[in-house]
Amino acid sequence: MLSRVAAVIVLCLGCVTAAPGPKEDSLNHYMDLVMDNVQVLIIENGFDPTPLPNASVGFSDVVLGVTWHGEADMYNGWLRGLATIHRSGDAEFLRDGNDVVNGISATLSVGEMKGHYVLLAQFMDLGPIADLVMDINGADIYFEASLDRSRCRFHVTIMEVTHIGSISVDITGLGLLDWIVEIVVDFVVNLMRSFIKDIIEGVVQDLTNEVLDDIDLSILGPIIGCDRANPFIQPGRPVVS
Ligand SMILES: *[C@@H]1O[C@H](CO)[C@@H](O)[C@H](O)[C@H]1NC(C)=O
Repeated sequence: MLSRVAAVIVLCLGCVTAAPGPKEDSLNHYMDLVMDNVQVLIIENGFDPTPLPNASVGFSDVVLGVTWHGEADMYNGWLRGLATIHRSGDAEFLRDGNDVVNGISATLSVGEMKGHYVLLAQFMDLGPIADLVMDINGADIYFEASLDRSRCRFHVTIMEVTHIGSISVDITGLGLLDWIVEIVVDFVVNLMRSFIKDIIEGVVQDLTNEVLDDIDLSILGPIIGCDRANPFIQPGRPVVS
């Protein structure tokens, strides 16, 4: 897995250094290659499809003057599509007050995701097992990484889900318990929104750092102003030793 990451990165450094300066075009290319590697890690680490946590939601109804409580249990869940994460906006260098490159930013997106749960609804003496299918219309992410000059590597500082597209839920097989559909849909939509946000800002951020950590940028020293052998070098500035 690590050797695959390294192979792509060598290619990438070639293309970035071929540019005369810190061109944002080559930066787009660099980010694309980083995201290609993140996609591979997401799949290799078992996050596409990713298992969904078991969950349950309660409900109640009054039957002949008596309040009855029921429960809908969701299990065997999975979500597919996280590995479609890609750069969707221009990557840009971040610069400090002296115009020295100190990071990169980009907009990322996850494409359409699909999910599934088996739903067991229990109410009075009813216990239908239903099928719950979800379609999630993508997600957008704001990404920033800062340049760790001492190690000459980027490190993610912000990986924030800024938008999750519409989520449609289709439940079949509830039979007489069809009246709980809305309760289950509201519950599972909220569950998916927080699950997707958490997994991107947690797991996907960690995997992105794993990729960035494998990229030694020393060869770009003159462009981005870092050099492992000489960690304090800055472009256009005398070297402090
Ligand atoms: C989820 O629920 C199923 C069915 O009850 C059970 O077999 C499984 O062990 C549960 N998984 C977890 C992670 O609790």
